[in-house]
Amino acid sequence: MRHLLSAADLSLEAAVEILDTAEAMATTQQRTIKKLPTLRGRTVVNLFFEDSTRTRISFEAAAKRLSADVINFSAKGSSVSKGESLKDTAQTLQAMGADGVVIRHPASGAPYRLAHSGWIGVPVLNAGDGTHQHPTQALLDAFTLRRHLHTAGGAPAPAGTDLAGARVTIVGDVLHSRVARSNVELLTTLGARVTLVAPPTLLPVGIDGWPATVRYDLDAAIAEDTPDAIMMLRVQRERMSSGGGGFFPSPLEYHRRFGLDGARLRALPDHAIVMHPGPMNRGLEISAEAADSPRSTIIEQVANGVSVRMAVLYLLLAGGDAAAAPAAEIRA
Ligand code: CP
Repeated sequence: MRHLLSAADLSLEAAVEILDTAEAMATTQQRTIKKLPTLRGRTVVNLFFEDSTRTRISFEAAAKRLSADVINFSAKGSSVSKGESLKDTAQTLQAMGADGVVIRHPASGAPYRLAHSGWIGVPVLNAGDGTHQHPTQALLDAFTLRRHLHTAGGAPAPAGTDLAGARVTIVGDVLHSRVARSNVELLTTLGARVTLVAPPTLLPVGIDGWPATVRYDLDAAIAEDTPDAIMMLRVQRERMSSGGGGFFPSPLEYHRRFGLDGARLRALPDHAIVMHPGPMNRGLEISAEAADSPRSTIIEQVANGVSVRMAVLYLLLAGGDAAAAPAAEIRA
């Protein structure tokens, strides 16, 4: 694997390898070994053309915990405001010594352009592009699910574990969600059965071709599917106004029909976990009661994101370089 651009590019074996490597990374973080020498002397550039809290900071933390140098680039306050192109921006940063580029961009496909244009010659990691893909979010969600599927409380998952038989219900604004696209692809690759629940106005054209069941009634989906996990999606109002479409149904109606409130929380199976990629619209797609409940893994997902991003940086930037990162060093 040269780049990480889409969850669709990951085979079952590749996905399990990343999740197993992330478990090894998490183990080192729980011990006194906070920092591994794996990427010493290498530079990771975080190229963010769109706002982010979790993804940007966790990629930075992951790179630093592998001893890489990190250059953080934000489009705001840069020469992008003077009209500088993606090509010129990327080549400028590579001239400063980038060994890997993490990119978030509002345009779907921007990471592909960067990876396959020949502009730069280093691994590209997609940190979210438009409404298209967010592969490391799907990986950290799968990592969290894998931990909770076999043990209550989210203990480390045994190596080689997939998600065969897991039932995952993803609810909300599927239309604008790169998280939903990446999760449907990765979770089904890992053997999970995915149900999407949304109003028809927030489903994309071509949804029939997705490897997921589509439903419109959240209460029926909870009662009949008895999910192991329910993943609430953020309602992306910023993407709705730019497309000229209003927010339909109304926020009040949306919460009443598709929000995870206390009653729906209590209707879930006892073992089911509550997930959300963040940032949340509390009171819209998820109530405070659900977000802060003991079965919520929302904060755990954020912590797991660092281990998962350490794993992908390790596999892409030090992959095959035994001198840089022997596996035993990580598992020690
Ligand atoms: N989940 C996620 O991508 O969050 P950020 O936008 O804060 O990175």
